[in-house]
Amino acid sequence: METMTENKSENKKRVFSAIKPTGNPTLGNYLGAMQYWGGMSDEYDCIFSVADLHAITVAIEPKDLRENSKRLFALLIAVGIDPEKNVVFMQSHVRAHCELCWLLNNYTMFGEARRMTQFKEKSEKAPENINVGLFDYPVLMAADILLYQTDIVPVGDDQLQHVELCRNIAERFNNRYSPTFKMPEGKVPKAGARIYSLTDPTAKMGKSDSGDAGAVFILDTPETIMRKFKRAVTDSDAAVKASPDKLGITNLLNIYAALCGITVAAAEAEFDGCDYATFKTRVGEAAVERLRPVREKYDALRRDDGRLSELMRAGADTAARIAARTLEKVYKKIGFVRT
Ligand code: TYM
Repeated sequence: METMTENKSENKKRVFSAIKPTGNPTLGNYLGAMQYWGGMSDEYDCIFSVADLHAITVAIEPKDLRENSKRLFALLIAVGIDPEKNVVFMQSHVRAHCELCWLLNNYTMFGEARRMTQFKEKSEKAPENINVGLFDYPVLMAADILLYQTDIVPVGDDQLQHVELCRNIAERFNNRYSPTFKMPEGKVPKAGARIYSLTDPTAKMGKSDSGDAGAVFILDTPETIMRKFKRAVTDSDAAVKASPDKLGITNLLNIYAALCGITVAAAEAEFDGCDYATFKTRVGEAAVERLRPVREKYDALRRDDGRLSELMRAGADTAARIAARTLEKVYKKIGFVRT
């Protein structure tokens, strides 16, 4: 069966985004990216992926990769991505990603890849495992995006530099041969593009911070979520106002704004005159209420592994057919013999 997405209508733009199954998905992932994905399918042709090939650029146990991947696939559906209206698939199920990555490697300059901030940060974090995959990761990401002739890439702001590199690669290839790839654009949300740790508001809230009270995980219980918010660091002042010298409060205001779909200024107005303890409780409650239905839907999905596998297969079939068209074009333009 061909889906709406496969027969993309000319006037609907295409959206592609992905998330990698390392660690435990956080409120940062949700507010910066995932919460918007489910609602985009009316306006756009949407394709979402669990970027499992990206996950092995950092050390990961086989059982963790397996469990994280299933969890994230189910979570994509639980946050509102309807597999009937979107293509949802596991990256490693569509071979074209690795193939295009290899081809694009030859149109990516070592110097530009070396400038990637995440590569530098991750190299510093794990100096014993600075592998070539970690270095090449943005090129694989470019392949993910370009295979689907993507117009819009909705991401948190830490991924914008990678989308920029992807555009450079696409432009270089298009100029060298002839127009082949659509020029994608990264899109970050107004509030929530960068959520910081609750215990260290100078550090990004990250998936690998398991056990860290600073990261709220999408699948945390309501009690855990409330405890983490109540312990969030603030400062000695008492005004609920965003400011560069009040990073903890600014982060909490940003979280609240992103949860409620309002501006930070509106959030400030709502908490005018409020004490910090009450403010933190209210932000926690807003997070609990928002994540409750996600968790319930997730639990239901995880009770039926067979159904999840079926959905994975169907998503990969559609994605593979779309990807094959771009890949074939690329092979031909470069001059490979095709029979
Ligand atoms: P990943 O898995 O690190 O994160 C998934 C999405 O969540 C956003 N995000 C955040 N947003 C706000 N605050 C935070 N603290 C926060 N942490 C993460 C990320 O910006 C991202 O949008 N390389 C990508 C996955 C990927 C991809 C792609 C994305 C692979 N191929 C193609 C777009 C297009 C990554 O590691 O995201």
